[in-house]
Amino acid sequence: MHYTQLRPVHNRWSYAISNVKENLWFILLSSLGILFILYGAAFAVVTFTPLVPSFISPKQTSAPDLADGIRQWPTVDNASAPIAQELCPGYYSENVVRTTNGITAWLRIAGQPCNIYGKDYNDLILNVTYQTDNRLNVRITDSEDIQYVIPDDVAKAPVAETNTAQKYEFEYNTQPFEFWVTRRSDGDILFDTRGTKLIFEDQYLEVMTKMEPNYNLYGLGEVIHELRLGNNLTRAMWATDLSNPIDSNMYGSHPVYLETRYGGDLQSRTTSTSHAVFLRSSHGMDVLLRPETLSYRVLGGIIDLYFYLGDTAIQAIQQYVSSIGLPAMQQYWVLGFHQCRWGYKNVNDLRDVVKLYREANIPLEVIWSDLDYMYQYRDWTLDEKNFHPDEMHHFLEELHANNQYYVPIIDAGIYAGNPTNLSDVYDPYTAGLDKSIYALNPDSSLYIGNVWPGYTTFPDFYRNANTLKWWIEAMRNFSTLVDYDGFWLDMNEISTFCTGSCGNDKLSDNPSCLFDFVGSPSTDYPEGFNVTNSTEGFHADSAKAVMAQIMPAVAPDAPVQLDKIGRNVNYPPYKIKLAEELLNLASHTLSPNVTHHDGTLEYDIHNLYAYTETMTAYKSFLELRPNKRPFLLTRGTFPGSGSYAAHWGGDNSSKFYYMAFSIPQVLSFQIFGIPVVGVDTCGFGGNTDFELCARWMQLGAFLPFYRNHNEITSIPQEAYRWSSVAEASRIAINIRYSLLPYWYTLMYRAHVDGTPMVRALAWEFPNEEALKDADRQFLVGSAILVTPVLEPLVTTVNGVFPGSRNDIWYDWYNYTKIEVPNGKNVTMDAPLGHINLAVRGGSILPMQEPGYTTTETRKNSLKLLVALSSEGVAQGEIYLDDEALVPASTLNVEMTVADGSLSVRSRGKFVITTMLSKITILGVTSKPKRVHFDSPVVVNWAYDETSRILTIFDIDKFNGSDLKSFNWTLTWAESDTST
Ligand code: GLC
Repeated sequence: MHYTQLRPVHNRWSYAISNVKENLWFILLSSLGILFILYGAAFAVVTFTPLVPSFISPKQTSAPDLADGIRQWPTVDNASAPIAQELCPGYYSENVVRTTNGITAWLRIAGQPCNIYGKDYNDLILNVTYQTDNRLNVRITDSEDIQYVIPDDVAKAPVAETNTAQKYEFEYNTQPFEFWVTRRSDGDILFDTRGTKLIFEDQYLEVMTKMEPNYNLYGLGEVIHELRLGNNLTRAMWATDLSNPIDSNMYGSHPVYLETRYGGDLQSRTTSTSHAVFLRSSHGMDVLLRPETLSYRVLGGIIDLYFYLGDTAIQAIQQYVSSIGLPAMQQYWVLGFHQCRWGYKNVNDLRDVVKLYREANIPLEVIWSDLDYMYQYRDWTLDEKNFHPDEMHHFLEELHANNQYYVPIIDAGIYAGNPTNLSDVYDPYTAGLDKSIYALNPDSSLYIGNVWPGYTTFPDFYRNANTLKWWIEAMRNFSTLVDYDGFWLDMNEISTFCTGSCGNDKLSDNPSCLFDFVGSPSTDYPEGFNVTNSTEGFHADSAKAVMAQIMPAVAPDAPVQLDKIGRNVNYPPYKIKLAEELLNLASHTLSPNVTHHDGTLEYDIHNLYAYTETMTAYKSFLELRPNKRPFLLTRGTFPGSGSYAAHWGGDNSSKFYYMAFSIPQVLSFQIFGIPVVGVDTCGFGGNTDFELCARWMQLGAFLPFYRNHNEITSIPQEAYRWSSVAEASRIAINIRYSLLPYWYTLMYRAHVDGTPMVRALAWEFPNEEALKDADRQFLVGSAILVTPVLEPLVTTVNGVFPGSRNDIWYDWYNYTKIEVPNGKNVTMDAPLGHINLAVRGGSILPMQEPGYTTTETRKNSLKLLVALSSEGVAQGEIYLDDEALVPASTLNVEMTVADGSLSVRSRGKFVITTMLSKITILGVTSKPKRVHFDSPVVVNWAYDETSRILTIFDIDKFNGSDLKSFNWTLTWAESDTST
């Protein structure tokens, strides 16, 4: 008897109880936590304002006879699994032809096929293309053209340029065929398959490269892990709805890594070098990171490898991101602070939240609606009782009049109406049926899964013009009900709570599984809540130990059902290392045998689902609101998603360790080309407390996407709920808003060349090997060093000020030079409500007086903060535009300081209507004799000898047209004096 299929993903209690054996670990864990929880709960009850108690209790009305499928144990953990490298013959090359931009060759199987995890191909085609000076493509396909290749109209493959001066060398051995890629400038071998065999079967590809000892690898997400992945990890990629599991597959799939090498024995290498490697594949895969090797083990498709030479980490990221699709430029307001909660159950709740933020004087830019606004959790509907269209209309009018914005959720699954109940009419579903937009079973029946509204169908976005038409129509109809400013695309990995097409003959049970959100509140609290802090590391380790004991040596046989070309897609012979709670590839997501509109199987394109939905939503937006930048937030992602959407990290928990993980999460997405990214600030699952939320609201203010969101079962966590959180938030949001021109410029940089908006210390200080693991600090752009507190019950924080003796850092709050040795770990004061920030010498930051909203901020006067380096130089830029998709007017301002004068030059037609009021220059070593602009503008200035700060103020009183157009020079040191 199984009834776990209908569980909501968040209700792990019912899951655990019904699957005692499979969930032994969870039960043990939970029991371990019970004392802690009870204590916490008691404390919570007395500490917190009473809240509407809530928890999810599904009304189970459909038959509990659905099968979860057979558990598949990962091949990589199975000691008796055949070893392809030992048993397979590999290939040899022949007919090698050197073309003007590469090499082509035949690869022939070098012995008896091993058919180890599929059927070997005897003949392959090798195509090596020198794509750009810095990018090389190695593509190996089957000669029969049977294997799946991602078509360009779905996700465009990196485009080759002509006449490249390739800075790399592709070399190979013919018998056996092996290849290696070298960077010409330093002779460094970046990828080297020598001594390993190529395996190319219909359901299994294997490529292996040698690695340097203790290699430094980053990327290969989406994963909850430290930034540096270490040398012993299996990274599985298979998009699934899992609540931020540590080290396993989850929502997105990004088979790209960045590798950084320090020092070494190469004479020419004076600093570190970084390169990136991308395997363009939408298949499930394992990437095995082992002490001396890295192997790709892929469930199908072709080998399509791209090498990006770097030389620096930032260059390698830029090269990769430019090749997959540059990130979208978002509207200005997206950089504001967003508030969301699952549980704003009517318009008044939304209105209250907006009002209470205003009353607390905590800037709020965007209010979001989760599922609550829908009629029975059905997309494109309004629950007319609680979200009446007229009321919504008034509310949104008020909101927009105050320059605030509204974003509702849209889930991927579409409620499938009950055919036996004539009153159960749901137009979007029937419209989709009419247009044949839904994903199908192999027998052409509808694939029916189960999500929040009950049994659901899933729109097939893959190369399906009808689905686009359907989305446009749905969006157009919805626009008459709600004046939204963007969409939040959720559950799009795609998520379903049952395994397989569980609802096929059960639609008459619909609505089958509506969740009642009543009951008791969550009793889970952050570490340090009761000062008994048992670490998650301990929990995770004991869970793993229990799993290892109950794991059978031999898994029961899985059913064999072959597809048209003879593949067992639901239970492929090679089993990737899925998260422990997933039984097989179909768990929590569409079954691999789902058949798409053009006959393509889900097996081949699974990791693309969210990407195709996001692209469809983006195109629909442009259809309805031409030339306006669509705002989309997506949970599922694939390489290229950044061109369409922002991303948030999904369902984390209110724990300090999840707050800490948010830094590597956000940094990794800079590598993945989705720079506008953040996490659920204060935590999604479980209850937060004032300490965690205050710390997290401060950290979140320095991440590109900044949204507070949590689950309906948790206590509300808006920033105004605790005075300490309110105060911490006001401080941090004001700093964020004062830096909005800088943030917008960073977004522009990401948009034009893929430069990360926030950066790992190692990327900005490539000479410092000690920073290779650093992920508890980060930089906003290149100029602001953020050192957040990431643990409970402390009032200090440790961090480094990277760089050599010549690098200067200034304290953000008092502008004084920070007198600590560079590179040494130092302890800084960090009382609650204070986040340590330092400005890097050599930077010029455009700033603005913060207002309540980003619109108000933009009306306030501008300022420049100039932080001089030890050589007295600095530089910075400003980008502004009219915010159109294709801006008609833009402004690019270049700012440079040298020899005691600041030169500001601009190009572009966009006119800034606000005045420049103040310039603050840090690190001016002696009192200037005279301070003047090149135009006859009167200057008021002051110099503080102790802090070495020169302030030019009240400039707005005298702003002439030259100042407004940002073409001027300010001089404070005559040519014979130095700063
Ligand atoms: C998913 C989302 C979460 C949302 C919930 C209900 O779990 O990740 O953010 O609140 O669904 O819609």
